[in-house]
Amino acid sequence: MPLKDFARGLRDGVIARERLRRAHPHAWIAGEVLFRGDPRRVRLAPDVAIKGPTVIVVTDGGGLTGSALEIGRRTYVGEFNNIRCAGAPIRIGANCLISQQVTVVGTNHGTAPGTPIVDQPWSGEGVVVGDDVWVGAGAVLLPGARIGDGAVVAANAVVRGEVEPGAIVGGIPARVIGRR
Ligand SMILES: CC(C)(COP(=O)(O)OP(=O)(O)OC[C@H]1O[C@@H](n2cnc3c(N)ncnc32)[C@H](O)[C@@H]1OP(=O)(O)O)[C@@H](O)C(=O)NCCC(=O)NCCS
Repeated sequence: MPLKDFARGLRDGVIARERLRRAHPHAWIAGEVLFRGDPRRVRLAPDVAIKGPTVIVVTDGGGLTGSALEIGRRTYVGEFNNIRCAGAPIRIGANCLISQQVTVVGTNHGTAPGTPIVDQPWSGEGVVVGDDVWVGAGAVLLPGARIGDGAVVAANAVVRGEVEPGAIVGGIPARVIGRR
């Protein structure tokens, strides 16, 4: 990517972040957060804290138009996280701890043979995280993940599909390793 395009992307991210901050005066959004998308598609409840550098992308593409981000009251999003709606909604409940270097991604690229992946449509139903969920460092929440209230996702887990309320899951793919 040419340097000037990179610089423009960075600048646009900063401008969008300032719009996001203005739209959510009751949330705490670090100065190092990079945001891309329309702040009107984001709902941050009071006392949400998002540390930087974290990347938040609420843009559409790949034939999908459903990007939206909702984060519930008093949820903490730590440093170096990567939250990408990619055409689908991501909902994170209240009182959650999203640690560091966590990726939450709403959709997948198509991978049919014979066409470059970059040209293929996206698909997926987004991600839903309940209330009072702790997501450990380095975890990945894949498209379609549905994490019940009170669950714990261990460090470095890769979560697909359902996690029952109160379960502690770990590994790749994540399996139940305990209960609270
Ligand atoms: C999930 C977690 C909370 C469990 O802690 P714990 O209750 O002390 O669990 P234990 O260390 O006693 O391990 C219990 C079992 O889970 C397994 N386990 C623990 N962490 C695991 C992980 N990240 N991935 C896979 N398995 C894991 C252990 O191997 C053990 O299995 P065993 O009973 O077959 O031996 C903890 O391991 C973890 O991942 N914490 C995240 C820390 C973090 O990311 N902090 C960021 C700052 S907020």
